[in-house]
Amino acid sequence: MHCTRKISNDITWVGGNDRRLALFENLFPVPRGVSYNSYLIMDEKTTLMDTADAAISRQFLENVEYVLEGRKLDYLVVNHMEPDHCANIEQLLLYYPELIIVGNAMTFQYLKQFYGKEVANKLVVKENDVLELGKHTLHFVTAPMVHWPEVMIAYESTEKILFSADAFGTFGALDGNLFADEVNFDRDWLADARRYYTNIVGKYGVQVQAALKKAAALEIKVICPLHGPVWREKLAYLLDKYDKWSRYEPEEKAVAIFYGSMYGNTENAAQILACRLADGGIRNVKMYDVSGTHVSELIAETFRCSHIVLAAPTYNAGLYPAMETLLTDMQALNVQGKAVGIIENGTWGCVSGKKMKEKLAGMKDMLVLEDEVTLKSALQVSGLQGVDKLAEAIVESMKG
Ligand code: FEO
Repeated sequence: MHCTRKISNDITWVGGNDRRLALFENLFPVPRGVSYNSYLIMDEKTTLMDTADAAISRQFLENVEYVLEGRKLDYLVVNHMEPDHCANIEQLLLYYPELIIVGNAMTFQYLKQFYGKEVANKLVVKENDVLELGKHTLHFVTAPMVHWPEVMIAYESTEKILFSADAFGTFGALDGNLFADEVNFDRDWLADARRYYTNIVGKYGVQVQAALKKAAALEIKVICPLHGPVWREKLAYLLDKYDKWSRYEPEEKAVAIFYGSMYGNTENAAQILACRLADGGIRNVKMYDVSGTHVSELIAETFRCSHIVLAAPTYNAGLYPAMETLLTDMQALNVQGKAVGIIENGTWGCVSGKKMKEKLAGMKDMLVLEDEVTLKSALQVSGLQGVDKLAEAIVESMKG
C-alpha cells in the first residue's frame, strides 16, 4: 500500500524506510533504521529524483505508481549511483519502458558496472545544464566526491528546492514526520546526522566546502536529501553544521576521553582524569570505552569535540587493537586540528603512547599535549600528580 508525503503541490516524497537493516553499508549500526528518500515531480514531464534501496522496492514502486495516477514516467534523474539509491532503475525501466535516465557520463559508466546494462534512453548532462519539465526547471550541479565521483545535486528553480543527494542526510528512519521542523532535530537526530556525515562523507571536507560554495550561490527554500528529514526551515542551522564539519572545526569546546582497558586499570586512570577535568571547571566531558562503543560513534565525537584523550594499553608489543582501529579510522576520515592528551599503559615494554603518537603524526594539525601519563600496570598514588598535570594542561588548552 502506498505511503507518501507532499513536499509541495507538485512534488511528493515517494521514498521509504528500512527498520530491519542492522548495518548500513554492512558497517554502521542503524538501530533507528534508515530512510531512502525519492521525490516525484508532477509537471508536463513527470520526473523522479533518484530511486531507492532494494530493501524497500515494493513500497517505493507502489508510491511512484500511486502518485503518477496512470501517467507514464518521463525522466529519472540519477544524482548518485550508489546502490542504496539505484537498486530500482532496472525495475522502473520494466514498468516505464520509455523512461529517459538523466545522469552524467560517469553515472552511466557506473550503471553499466553495477548492473551490466547500457541504457537506451538516456540524457547525459553536465555542470550547469538545465532540464525544463514544464513549470519546473532542474539545474544540474556536479558535486564530485561528496562522496562518490559522479555525484550531482539538482536545483529546481521554480520552487527553489535543492535535491542534495547524500549531502545533508542522516541515519534514522522517518517516523511519519518527514520535515526537520516536525521533529526535535537537536534531541533526536543531530547525533545520527553527525555520525552519518563524519563516517560517510567526513573524508571529503574540501569537496564538501566546494559544494557548499556552489549552494551558497542559490536561493534555497527546501533541501531534499536522500536520507533523513527534509529541510524547509532553519536551513542556516544545517548549513552551519556542514560548514563546521567540512572545515574540521569542532562544534564544541569539549573533551572526549577514548580509553581501552583490559582489566579496568587504564579506565581507572581515565576516570580520575575526567574527575580532575570536572574539578577544573570543564563541564563537557564524555568517556568512551573503545572496545564497547562502535567506532562510528567515536569518529562522530572526534568531529564534535575540541579535545580528545587517548588512553590505551600496550598489546602484542604494539597498540591495543580497538584503539588502533579508532586511530586508523580517524586518519582515513581526515580528522584534524585536535588537542590530544595521551595516557599509555604497559606492564612491560610499554609502547602504546609511542604508537598512538605515530598514528597522530599522520594526521593534520594534531597538537599532542606534553604532559603524557605513563602507567605501569595501574595508577599508583605516586602517579596521581601526572594525571593532575595532564588535566591542568587540558584545562589550560581549553581556555585558548
Ligand atoms: Fe546514500 Fe552514497 O548513498
